[in-house]
Amino acid sequence: MPPAAYTDAANHKMSGYVIISPPLLFHQILFRFMSSIPATSHAGISSSSLAGTLLRQEVLDLHAYHVPDSSGCIKLDAMENPYLLPQALRGEIAEVVASAAINRYPDPGAALLKEQIRSLTGLPQGMDVLLGNGSDELIQLLAMAVNKPGATLLSVEPSFVMYRMIAAFTGMRYVGVPLASDFSLDLPATLAAIKREQPALVFLAYPNNPTGNLFSADAVAQIIEASPGLVVVDEAYYAFASDSFIPQLACYPNLLVMRTFSKLGMAGLRLGFLAGNTAWLEQLEKLRLPYNVGVLTQLVAGILLDHHEVLLQQAEQIKQDRAWLYRQLSEITAVCVYPSEANFLLFRIANATAVSNGLKQRGVLIKNLNGGHPMLTDCLRVTVGTLDENMKFITALKETITQLA
Ligand SMILES: Cc1ncc(COP(=O)(O)O)c(C=O)c1O
Repeated sequence: MPPAAYTDAANHKMSGYVIISPPLLFHQILFRFMSSIPATSHAGISSSSLAGTLLRQEVLDLHAYHVPDSSGCIKLDAMENPYLLPQALRGEIAEVVASAAINRYPDPGAALLKEQIRSLTGLPQGMDVLLGNGSDELIQLLAMAVNKPGATLLSVEPSFVMYRMIAAFTGMRYVGVPLASDFSLDLPATLAAIKREQPALVFLAYPNNPTGNLFSADAVAQIIEASPGLVVVDEAYYAFASDSFIPQLACYPNLLVMRTFSKLGMAGLRLGFLAGNTAWLEQLEKLRLPYNVGVLTQLVAGILLDHHEVLLQQAEQIKQDRAWLYRQLSEITAVCVYPSEANFLLFRIANATAVSNGLKQRGVLIKNLNGGHPMLTDCLRVTVGTLDENMKFITALKETITQLA
C-alpha cells in the first residue's frame, strides 16, 4: 500500500465524526511503510552471495582472529597476567567506578592518563604518547596513515599475526622476512628486503611473539637506520624484558615505540600507547577515533598506574615463575624449550597438536602454533600462570606425553 493508505487507516470516519486513532510512533509508521514497498532488486539474492560480491577480496580471504572457548580451563593461552589485584585496590576501583559519569563521553584527550603514562615511561624531551583501544588499534591506525597506493608493511616471521592481518584489512602489501632458525633476526636478509621493498612501515616485536626472544639491539638499530619509512618497535612484553628502545626515541627520526598494558594486568581494559616525537603523534592523532579510550578504562587505568608498583611486583613474580617453568620444561626430554624475555614460553614437541588436545582434555588451555607457520611446526606456546597453574600444566603435560608414548 502507498503511504497515504496509512492516513486513511488511522483516521476512521464514524457518524460524521472524524475519530483520530492514537498517533503512531515513528518506527511503526516506518515499518508499515517499508512492508508496503514491493520486493526490491535484491529479491532472491542471499546475504552471503551479496557479501561475496560487495566485500573486498582481502576481507573474504581472511580468517577471523580465533579465540577458543576457555570455560572451565586453566587459561594459559593468551599472555594474560594471572593475578588478581589486592583487595584494598579492588575496593578503591569499585568506589571510583560506582560514581563514574558513564552517561558522559570520556575526556577525548585522556589528559590525566597521558600525563601519568608520560611520567612513568620516562619519555625523552619532545616526545609524547598517543593512546589506543589496545595496541591492536594503533597498528591499524599506523597502517591507515601510511597506506599510499602500493605502500608496503614489512615484518619478520614468525611474529605477531596482527601485523599481517592488519596489512590485509587496510589493503597494504605485506612482506614477511623469515627469522634465522634460532629465531634471531636474519639481519642480511632483513636489510636486503628493506632495500628491495622500501617499506613505508616496519614492525618489530621486542621481545617477539610467539618466539619470546629479544632480538639483538644492535641489529634492530641497523634496521631502523636502513629503513626509509617508519619503524615501530612493539614492546608489548616490556614488563618482562631486559631492554627497551624508549631511550633511543630521540636518536632516530623514524622510530616509534608501542606498548600495551594488556600483559601487565589490564587486558580487559584495552589500553595501549604509541610513544614518539610529537611531529609524528600530532599527525597520527587526526586518525584516532574520538573517545577511543572509554570512561572506565581512563579511570581504572589511572588508579592502577597510581599503584604501578603492584603491577611491577606481579611482573617480577611472573619472571621468577617463568624461570621455574623453563627449568621444568628443559628437564623433559621430549621437549625443546626456547629462552624467553616475555610472559610465555615457546616449546617444540613431537605431535604438538595431539599434546595440545591432551592438555585440553586435562583442563589446561595453551596455544597450539603447529601449522601456523613452517618454522613453528610442532610448536606450542604456554603463558606463565600462577605457581599452582604452572604445576598443574607440567603435571598434565607429563601425563599427556606418557599417554601418547
Ligand atoms: C607483540 C604484540 N603486540 C601487540 C599485541 C596486542 O595487544 P593489545 O591489543 O592487547 O594491546 C600483542 C598481543 O598479544 C602482541 O603479542
